[in-house]
Amino acid sequence: MILTWLGHSAYLLQTAGTSVLIDPFLTGNPHAPVAAGEIQADFIVVTHGHGDHIGDTVEIAKRTEAVVISNHEISVWLQKQGVSRTHDMHLGGSHRFEFGTLKLTIAHHGSILPDGSCGGSPAGLLFRTRSGVLYHAGDTALFSDMRLIGEEGLTAAILPIGDNYTMGPDDSIRAVKLLQPKVVIPCHYSTFPIIEQDVDQWQERIRNETQADPLVMQPGVAVELPV
Ligand code: NI
Ligand code: MN
Repeated sequence: MILTWLGHSAYLLQTAGTSVLIDPFLTGNPHAPVAAGEIQADFIVVTHGHGDHIGDTVEIAKRTEAVVISNHEISVWLQKQGVSRTHDMHLGGSHRFEFGTLKLTIAHHGSILPDGSCGGSPAGLLFRTRSGVLYHAGDTALFSDMRLIGEEGLTAAILPIGDNYTMGPDDSIRAVKLLQPKVVIPCHYSTFPIIEQDVDQWQERIRNETQADPLVMQPGVAVELPV
């Protein structure tokens, strides 16, 4: 699987000949390497309703006819915005798609949509593909059930480290100890001043305090997993 960071929590996952966009917040994202009007996708997966995650989903879905995968409440809202191709799921549920199996996992956070509609429960994402298992935590606090997610055998885990709205660097270290991924990728940091973090220092701590290898991605630079 080939993973490209689009800044913040947005990623492009390419696997099994399929392009999957995750949390496509591109407009207003200072690190986005591509404009919302240019990106192609077969699927879009949304972790929760906040503007920095649902982002350009409606526009991209209408233009590309990508299938948008989300929880039920966000799916209903997307239909009201004129997005016709949606696939609703909910926490704990798995489904097999062209790109592999996706399970929605718990996340401790909020999910209000940009117009104030209820976005249901926020989610994390567990992708099981032919080339490995990728966990995208979404926006979340640390929670001890990350140990159960770790039992799935993670090739890589994408964790927020920005603090203030999500777990910060200290709790991300504890999360890695529970999740035991081979590789840990930081996200949701330094997009805005309030979530500014020293990622070099974080990287050193991951090396010194956990068994995982840190992978600090550069926006727009594709990485093949497993590394
Ligand atoms: Ni959020
Ligand atoms: Mn967020």
